[in-house]
Amino acid sequence: MNYKINTYGCQMNVHESEKIASILRSLGYAEFNENIHENYDVIIFNTCCIRDTAEQKIFSHIGELKIQKKNNPNLIIGIVGCMSQQEGKIDIMRAKYPHIDIILGTSNIDLLAESIVNLRENKKHTYIIDESERPEIVEGKDYYRTSGTNAWVNIMYGCDNFCTYCIVPYVRGRERSRSMPDIINEVKELINCGYKEITLLGQNVNSYGSDNPDGPDFSTLLEELAKLSGNHRIRFMTSHPKDLNTKVIEMISKYDTLCKSIHLPIQSGSNNVLEAMNRRYTREYYLNVIKEIRSIIPDCGITTDIMVGFPGETEQDFEDTLDIVREVQFNSAFTYIYSVRKGTVAASMPQIPYAVKSERIQRLIKIQNSLTKESSKDCEGKTFRVLVEGIKSIGKVSGRTDAGRLVTFEGGEDLIGEFRNVLITKTQSAALFGTIKED
Ligand code: SAH
Ligand code: SF4
Ligand code: F3S
Repeated sequence: MNYKINTYGCQMNVHESEKIASILRSLGYAEFNENIHENYDVIIFNTCCIRDTAEQKIFSHIGELKIQKKNNPNLIIGIVGCMSQQEGKIDIMRAKYPHIDIILGTSNIDLLAESIVNLRENKKHTYIIDESERPEIVEGKDYYRTSGTNAWVNIMYGCDNFCTYCIVPYVRGRERSRSMPDIINEVKELINCGYKEITLLGQNVNSYGSDNPDGPDFSTLLEELAKLSGNHRIRFMTSHPKDLNTKVIEMISKYDTLCKSIHLPIQSGSNNVLEAMNRRYTREYYLNVIKEIRSIIPDCGITTDIMVGFPGETEQDFEDTLDIVREVQFNSAFTYIYSVRKGTVAASMPQIPYAVKSERIQRLIKIQNSLTKESSKDCEGKTFRVLVEGIKSIGKVSGRTDAGRLVTFEGGEDLIGEFRNVLITKTQSAALFGTIKED
């Protein structure tokens, strides 16, 4: 019996798919990764609804399976993740795609095993979406990890920020932090199993613990994890600029085990737009945070997310974004065109034409690409500690620096999971090339 999991969206989903894989394996299914759908017994879609493009892609893939289901009525098709949780989506999916057998909300993945058994044994479908805002955190989950030397660890779930464009708070509920002992135990176990990089996940990791004011905050959690013995390093994402404080920045600089890398989404460089987005910081505040990071951790990699075409964004607002991008000089940036999300505050604001948004993102990408290139070029002649992640091509391996830059150099399989000092000899856009520097 074979399974396939189609994962869309962020690292949170990638990690949750490891849990889904573990559930399917416990039911006797084996992983099979070919694009011949006839050969599958279970196909799970772990979905995302952050932008319309994500949704359209998923719908078209689900639609394609109609024929497979006709040819093989025993094929089980399940939809889980953020799209299932969106208000009204379950009815649309059931009406449009009657070949879907199971639909579960973001906090109901634990019901997948019994949903499949129920279908196999009793021909009963399961469509369950828990709509409570604070679903309980279930500990003791198994993950079938497939991310090589890196392991993901959730430290919190949900989001309280309600940026006016964003669907996440509606589909992931309110912020809930895991207990520090549970996180520490999981990380210890992963280090003992040989994982070399642990990435802490949360929509806004800097507000870790704010649902328990007497408990530890994010910097305390970081310190406890940084002090664990073992040859490993720790990353985290994502940081919200309004919550990234001096304590956290100092903590990162204090411990070698904490990666000198911060993903700090800016979204826009215009104060008008930032206010309309409910980001709760100004351009000046953001620039001060950058200044502080660079004065405390001079070699810190800083990356960002930028959105163009938010309702009401004027040419001047957009110019302000280009301006701040040039000023900060991010290592790299994810750039997005604003996409209307039904049910969010920004959906009812006056929208700007797609042609304008599209033209703006092209200009932004062009500028960021040249800045990314320059930022890579600055690495030439410097040596970085790289964690080898895998084989790139024959005789070549690739891995990441502390700041998250991708480096390719000569080496074999025996280097996977090892740290090496690498001298950068050549760069090409965001890619770095080098040679191992013996100690
Ligand atoms: N929690 C993280 C990011 C979550 S979503 C944070 O607060 O930064 C990842 C990125 O998707 C966001 O940073 C934003 O740039 C983008 N995004 C979110 N909603 C969007 C929308 N409606 N349209 C386009 N991009 C969006
Ligand atoms: Fe969305 Fe804002 Fe929460 Fe990030 S902080 S998940 S952008 S609402
Ligand atoms: Fe992630 Fe997409 Fe959900 S970005 S939290 S999978 S809406």
